Amino acid sequence: MESNQPLLEVEHLSTHFFTENGVVPSINDITFSIAPGEIVALVGESGSGKSVTSMSIMGLVESPGKIVNGRILFNNQDLTALSYRKYQKIRRNDISMVFQEPLTALNPVFSIGFHLVETIIVQQKVSKKKAKAIAFEWLEKVRIPNPKEVFASYPHELSGGMRQRVMIAMALSSHPRLLIADEPTTALDVTIQKQILDVMKTLSKELDTAILFITHDLGVVAEMVDRVMVMYGGEIVETSSVKQLFHTPKHPYSKGLLKSTPKIQQSDEKLDAIGGAVPSPANLPTGCKFHPRCPKAFDRCTSEHPSLINLNNENQVRCLLYES
Ligand SMILES: Nc1ncnc2c1ncn2[C@@H]1O[C@H](COP(=O)(O)OP(=O)(O)OP(=O)(O)O)[C@@H](O)[C@H]1O
Ligand SMILES: [Mg+2]
Repeated sequence: MESNQPLLEVEHLSTHFFTENGVVPSINDITFSIAPGEIVALVGESGSGKSVTSMSIMGLVESPGKIVNGRILFNNQDLTALSYRKYQKIRRNDISMVFQEPLTALNPVFSIGFHLVETIIVQQKVSKKKAKAIAFEWLEKVRIPNPKEVFASYPHELSGGMRQRVMIAMALSSHPRLLIADEPTTALDVTIQKQILDVMKTLSKELDTAILFITHDLGVVAEMVDRVMVMYGGEIVETSSVKQLFHTPKHPYSKGLLKSTPKIQQSDEKLDAIGGAVPSPANLPTGCKFHPRCPKAFDRCTSEHPSLINLNNENQVRCLLYES
């Protein structure tokens, strides 16, 4: 059965925080979609709004944060209109998430086996015995070499990489349609990162689970994803296939990000970081939010806010240089 129906459609999403010191517009007018089984990366520097985007999709934005505009369609159903109970059901069955630091998501007083078995019982409504069998299957699927030992271990007894494998097993055991992975490998060393990404990608293909992969490191996504969305100052500034982004980045910010990604540049080339810092969302520049750091900025960039321009089917850019 062929279907062009997207799995997830985020439309004009804005999430703001209403703090004592004023409104913080963390993300603004975010629009994108993910097809079933597709692997998409959301890339941007710290503070650009990646986690606020993922928490908004999960329905987990806490006060003083609030979705102030937009819709999040999952299988054509608007998540922003769901009751807490119905959202819980979606989080249990259809959309899973893994975070950067699994230790905070695991309870230190319970064994890994307990975590897995409880999760599987809640999700799949099976007996304890059956849940245990499924748990072992999953420990093998995420290529944990000593499943029996790991099952009996407590979270602090495992390495970061092993803990993250356990989290991936817990997240995928419900066969979700979408996995949101928010910097799942940032805390790990490069070899372990690669192994974990490989496990995620293999399992996502096997289960036909789409992945929204969040990272500040473009180098990590090169082999992993189909498509990349670049975020800056709470907005998407470029969307592109991974190949196109690496060969012909369009937005000056994407170009800067690529230059400062050590893993994909020639080893003898100088690391060329983007000057300046990400603006605080409480204090965003007028016009194009990137203009104070942009080597290509011209007078209009200081006052005119560029819209997202469609260059072709798979490539969009938010930059006045590309106006026809
Ligand atoms: N609870 C909150 N209260 C006020 N502002 C918040 C809150 N949570 C996030 N923000 C603001 O939203 C902005 C975006 O935050 P977010 O966590 O999405 O960034 P990020 O892209 O995930 O960064 P990192 O790579 O460091 O994880 C931050 O700069 C912060 O100022
Ligand atoms: Mg984050």
